[in-house]
Amino acid sequence: MGLQGDASKEWFQRASQVLVNGVSSQFRYWGDDDTLVIERGEGGYLIDVDGRRYLDLQCGFGPIILGHGEPSVVAAVAEAAAEATSFAMTQRREVEAAEKVIAALGWPTRMRFTNTGTEATMHAIRLARGMTGRDVVIKFEGQYHGMHDYVLFSTAGGPPGGLGSRFRPNPWQSSSGIPDAIRSYIRTLPYNDLEIVERTFRNEGGQIAAVIVEPMLGNAFGILPAEGYLEGLRRLCDEYGAMLIFDEVKTGFRLGLGGAVAHFGVTPDIGTYAKALGNGFPVAAVALGEWAAEGWRQGGIAQAGTYSGNGIAASAAKATIEALEDGDAYARIEKTGTRMMEGLAKVLADRGVPGHVVGHPAMFSVFLAEEAPREFRDAARHDAHTYDTVVFKMIEKGVMPCPDAKEPWFLCAAQTVEDADRAVEAFADSLDEVLAGRSA
Ligand SMILES: Cc1ncc(COP(=O)(O)O)c(C=O)c1O
Repeated sequence: MGLQGDASKEWFQRASQVLVNGVSSQFRYWGDDDTLVIERGEGGYLIDVDGRRYLDLQCGFGPIILGHGEPSVVAAVAEAAAEATSFAMTQRREVEAAEKVIAALGWPTRMRFTNTGTEATMHAIRLARGMTGRDVVIKFEGQYHGMHDYVLFSTAGGPPGGLGSRFRPNPWQSSSGIPDAIRSYIRTLPYNDLEIVERTFRNEGGQIAAVIVEPMLGNAFGILPAEGYLEGLRRLCDEYGAMLIFDEVKTGFRLGLGGAVAHFGVTPDIGTYAKALGNGFPVAAVALGEWAAEGWRQGGIAQAGTYSGNGIAASAAKATIEALEDGDAYARIEKTGTRMMEGLAKVLADRGVPGHVVGHPAMFSVFLAEEAPREFRDAARHDAHTYDTVVFKMIEKGVMPCPDAKEPWFLCAAQTVEDADRAVEAFADSLDEVLAGRSA
């Protein structure tokens, strides 16, 4: 018996006849009996084809920041759909949206729109290589930067125990089909360990084009940077002439309007944004400091995209930023998220279950181990079996975080403190059932 009701079962079987494994993205496949089919979203909730309601703590893997079907964003997109899609020319809505993005972020001098986070990080890396004339890129274990070949190494889907020595890590290839030669252009290092980054720069600084980093580990428990870590990356990039790329696809417009740059106070050369930028509509951006902007301005480093900056994406971004500027969305998320984090931590403490609630109120995870994690390798200590069992029970109770603990719980402004209490209660009841099953 799985999570599917009768209608989900029927729709999933239909889906499997046309979509491989019934999904359009491999991360959505939870198994043949557990992959639900959703009818619609409403504020902070999802409703599946059986009519079951779920408190949505996936928020689409991060994009939903205001709430599903946010009226002002829907209205802006509807207007644009009638007048402004793709013109093969710059359009008014695109300019207005870019002005909004640059003003909200505060640090870039220029930007360009793309359509997905994958496209944004691909362009960011090419730009860094084109500007520095170097090929090697440093990324960190447990971080995900999208689906292009250059970054599909040592992502959070990999085995934390199989990464080799931390001083000479193995880049774990997250997919077949990547040419062997690509591996020689990537260095996958443990996160939050500046000494290893420093040593890598000392050894081969002349070949390193860029450091690409999720400022906090948005794909590995929401682990936060240690004090001084991001500043250290900035210093090393400056010292060795490499570009610092912040992949803010998850943190951007989620930790606040200024994203991780404003939150942590460190400025990259290039920033990639997507997800919360469009409240669920497909829009992404590459934001550039002066040095990086010069690369595209002078030409010779390719960047293009048929749909980049299209009217629907641009209007979604503009309307989302306006709603985030005008309302109390971030204050609401902070309040709901803090209540949820504290509630979950208390549930663990009251039952003597070793664990930590890690991250930021807008994106956090439950890590089940004695000691809090500092880097992705610590995932080997997390009690995934207990966590997964608890989360499946929560979903049966109508509260839906991602069943993979490495994927943070995402909140949106449409959710309330009552929702926070509901989530904590579902977690407590589900954990109690698991513990009772063990002692029986
Ligand atoms: C940090 C980060 N970068 C890039 C991506 C890729 O974005 P997309 O799925 O829009 O291609 C993701 C997706 O989850 C992400 O979390």
